[in-house]
Amino acid sequence: MIMNQKPQGLCTGVLGVPVLLQTFGSSVAQYNNATPASFNFTTTYKQVNKPVTNDGMFSIVNQVHDDFGTWFTPYDHTTGNGTGDMLLVNANFLPGEVFRTTVDNLSIGLIYEFSAFLGNLNKIQYNNILPNITFTIMTPANVTVASVSTGSIPETAVFAWVKYGMSFKATTASVTLLMTTVAVGGDGDDFVADDITLAPCSAQICGSTY
Ligand SMILES: *[C@@H]1O[C@H](CO)[C@@H](O)[C@H](O)[C@H]1NC(C)=O
Ligand SMILES: *[C@@H]1O[C@H](CO)[C@@H](O)[C@H](O)[C@H]1NC(C)=O
Ligand SMILES: *[C@@H]1O[C@H](CO)[C@@H](O)[C@H](O)[C@H]1NC(C)=O
Ligand SMILES: *[C@@H]1O[C@H](CO)[C@@H](O)[C@H](O)[C@H]1NC(C)=O
Ligand SMILES: *[C@@H]1O[C@H](CO)[C@@H](O)[C@H](O)[C@H]1NC(C)=O
Repeated sequence: MIMNQKPQGLCTGVLGVPVLLQTFGSSVAQYNNATPASFNFTTTYKQVNKPVTNDGMFSIVNQVHDDFGTWFTPYDHTTGNGTGDMLLVNANFLPGEVFRTTVDNLSIGLIYEFSAFLGNLNKIQYNNILPNITFTIMTPANVTVASVSTGSIPETAVFAWVKYGMSFKATTASVTLLMTTVAVGGDGDDFVADDITLAPCSAQICGSTY
């Protein structure tokens, strides 16, 4: 029987070989014009392959361009030196889907971790809107298995990649992974994402409420 699971944190055990590892590839040019379909994901955001990545838009880049004079200009997380790419999102005024994909061949009953490295692009300023990303796992029938939000991702003095996500117990062999944002666009709510991963987790969590 399929049931919603209580939100769980990241895997506390050892991670196995990822079933999905989305690194967003690499490009010689700063802006990669490869489409989401070529990376096997969909998004409700509109792709832009040059500055400026405005509200409701995303770019796939090897380094962030400081479009507004308020952004850090980090390299991708996978390589840390811009020889790989990442997703740059300028969140919309409306709730949106940042990333959606389907992964097959999970082992039912096993615990998996769905995670991504995220970074708030804005340098510390007064009263900016903070990113808040929701990770959701759904069955092929669109029943939500588990869902967790990052909460407000703070602005920091120095750019920081932080791993966010959740673990859950697979109840179907095929699952849809969703990353959504409800925080409104405008001043702030600009972030980068990289290394979106689904991997088996060895943890036998004591007192687990899966
Ligand atoms: C960039 O980082 C990757 C992964 O860490 C490494 O293999 C590569 O040699 C680096 N390249 C440069 C030009 O620093
Ligand atoms: C690509 O995505 C589709 C649907 O989202 C999924 O069924 C398929 O397994 C994915 N293929 C790979 C190679 O990940
Ligand atoms: C899933 O398993 C089936 C049957 O073993 C295999 O044909 C298929 O290639 C697998 N898909 C993925 C994405 O590994
Ligand atoms: C699940 O939701 C997606 C996206 O809204 C839709 O394309 C798909 O048809 C739905 N699947 C079912 C079984 O309702
Ligand atoms: C983050 O988003 C979730 C899902 O919409 C919401 O429940 C939660 O209150 C939000 N957290 C903050 C700090 O805005």
